[in-house]
Amino acid sequence: MVATALIGCSGYAGQETLDRVLAHPELEVVALGSDSLAGEPPSALDLRLNGSLPPFVSNAEALASGADVLFLCLDHDEAAAFEPPAEAVVVDLSGAHRLRDPALYDDWYGFAHPFPAVLPDWSYALPELYPPTGRLIANPGCYATAALLALAPLAEAIEPEGIVVDAKSGVSGAGRALKASSHAGFVLENLSPYRIGSHQHAPEVEQALGFPICFVPHLLPIRRGLLATCYARAVDGGSRERLEDAYAESDVVRVLPEGVAPELGRVQGTDTAEVALFEDRSTRTTIVVCALDNLGKGAAGQAVQNANLALGLDETMGLRLTGVLV
Ligand SMILES: NC(=O)c1ccc[n+]([C@@H]2O[C@H](COP(=O)([O-])OP(=O)(O)OC[C@H]3O[C@@H](n4cnc5c(N)ncnc54)[C@H](OP(=O)(O)O)[C@@H]3O)[C@@H](O)[C@H]2O)c1
Repeated sequence: MVATALIGCSGYAGQETLDRVLAHPELEVVALGSDSLAGEPPSALDLRLNGSLPPFVSNAEALASGADVLFLCLDHDEAAAFEPPAEAVVVDLSGAHRLRDPALYDDWYGFAHPFPAVLPDWSYALPELYPPTGRLIANPGCYATAALLALAPLAEAIEPEGIVVDAKSGVSGAGRALKASSHAGFVLENLSPYRIGSHQHAPEVEQALGFPICFVPHLLPIRRGLLATCYARAVDGGSRERLEDAYAESDVVRVLPEGVAPELGRVQGTDTAEVALFEDRSTRTTIVVCALDNLGKGAAGQAVQNANLALGLDETMGLRLTGVLV
């Protein structure tokens, strides 16, 4: 069994990652790190967690637990300040190690990166497109995962200018902490764009594709699920074949048949993604839609998928590949 520690376990991403780890036949929890719950039993987080798990310890203690694999489920600035242990596989679910250019942290995340020299040591890993290349893994953002699954296979076949990504996510994407912008009174019966043209996932998509995108996220009045609609102009035929080839071997990403649109209902609560390609009859715009669960393929599922690859395990161990029907 692979000794596993979670850091920042009490947040949404931490809880979801723990759930995958508990379903994983090869990973064993040796430390549950949470600064807000240190000293408490696991049931303090969720009554369904049974007595076989260790009590919560501080995040620093979990980091020093000697685990072989660590999942960092912290806010960006806290994750950036962590110094990973020498030997372990570390998957960072935050944005703290996604960008190669340290100056971008000031611009897009609002803090100076405390360890800019280590950024080249981290591999930005989206398994179907860019599998991890080392033991330090930067897990992509949820919106970035959807945009890249839709656009990366077409990058050579579309005009690099004028690409628009219009995306919508459920409220769990904002994390568990209480904020006015995720208050039920604001979210329910509402649909609101936010960080228009300035969301921090735009630069990681640009870094991966090699050209910028115009990105507008929106907050949906649902708990989980994310759908990105990407608009591009094809310069070469064969876009559908490119998409189908990219995911032909994948158990996680499904390319839908012609004319069938992705739906949140089929991916919510799972670690899968759906991708579909359309052509606008009037303008000949190529439209690629991707749906995934922001906490699944957009966070915890992808983190465990990356850890599996780094550990040489079956890629889908511990993942939720089926959802519910209704
Ligand atoms: N939410 C998503 O859909 C999503 C998707 C992809 C990536 N991510 C990234 O994953 C990281 C964690 O995101 P998240 O959504 O899990 O954020 P979150 O729910 O706000 O949790 C962030 C941290 O805050 C602490 N915390 C959580 N709930 C708390 C509470 N009620 N009281 C006090 N402290 C609390 C936890 O640390 P302790 O346990 O140490 O107290 C946790 O690690 C972020 O960097 C985020 O960008 C999130």
